[in-house]
Amino acid sequence: MPVVSGSNAGELASSLAAELNWEHHPLEVRRFPDSEGYVRVPQNSIESIRSEPVVVVATTFPDSGIVEALLILEAIHDVRKGDLTDLTNEDTRELDDVGPGIFLAVPYFGYSRQDKRFQRGEVISAKLLARLLTRRVDGMIVLDLHAPAVLDDLELPVSFVSSMPEIAEHLQANVKPDFVLSPDKGAIERANHVANAIGCRFSYLEKTRIDAHTIEHKAKDLDVDGAIVAIVDDMISTGGTICKASDALRRQGAVAVHAACTHGLFTGGAITRLANHVDGVHATDSLPNPRSVVSGAPAIARGVRELINRVL
Ligand code: R5P
Repeated sequence: MPVVSGSNAGELASSLAAELNWEHHPLEVRRFPDSEGYVRVPQNSIESIRSEPVVVVATTFPDSGIVEALLILEAIHDVRKGDLTDLTNEDTRELDDVGPGIFLAVPYFGYSRQDKRFQRGEVISAKLLARLLTRRVDGMIVLDLHAPAVLDDLELPVSFVSSMPEIAEHLQANVKPDFVLSPDKGAIERANHVANAIGCRFSYLEKTRIDAHTIEHKAKDLDVDGAIVAIVDDMISTGGTICKASDALRRQGAVAVHAACTHGLFTGGAITRLANHVDGVHATDSLPNPRSVVSGAPAIARGVRELINRVL
């Protein structure tokens, strides 16, 4: 079966195809001089895309990734519907609609943190994005979504998958933590999974976000004297959350602190900031980043298999 990608998830789509033993079909994707996107399904991919269910891999970050994902899904929809007439009139054969079978795999779901109306007048961006993205799809796979409840009212099957098993394996092989810390309540489930998989101690911090760049942790006694600690979160953006948690751990005697996450956004100097606070940073390839050491493909492959069994 075909795994299709545009410009932002080509390597991950290729790993996913290898994991599933399917074919990878990169689409033709470019930008016009004014920066608008262009997507085309190459002639030699049309037959495969029409003959079997398709998985589209697209990361909706940065904003250009959202438009690209929408263009890719529309192009795949038209190809499968048989809507292929064009201005060249080179091929005027009538083609059937081959029916449902478009699955969207989202390695990093941009806007996932705007999942509530925190203040009157705001948009619940994650919900809007989900509605737009699923217009042309029959099922969706999402990797380590910040808060899955935001997709509760979507009327299509969604498979939520996590790279925490692979992150645990990587940390065990390379860091050998004695202790795993969740830097806030939102990451407890994920970090706890890693601690259980490794078989080490676990705790969490309570975090208050003051603004996009400032957070505060409630003081807590952590039994980390002499310990190697891994802080596990779903994403690292500015690095502020990790740096603050690491400082608390060091004050309490941790001898080494590592940070691990699925989504390495690393915005505005985060890599440099983190280098001053932690001994290592470990991320997946859900989006291109300089600390990508774990593949998201096995987790996404689990979701694809589960969804296809459920839907087809
Ligand atoms: C928020 O709850 C997330 O799970 C992360 O903790 C947060 O987005 C990290 O952001 P930053 O790296 O900017 O502190």
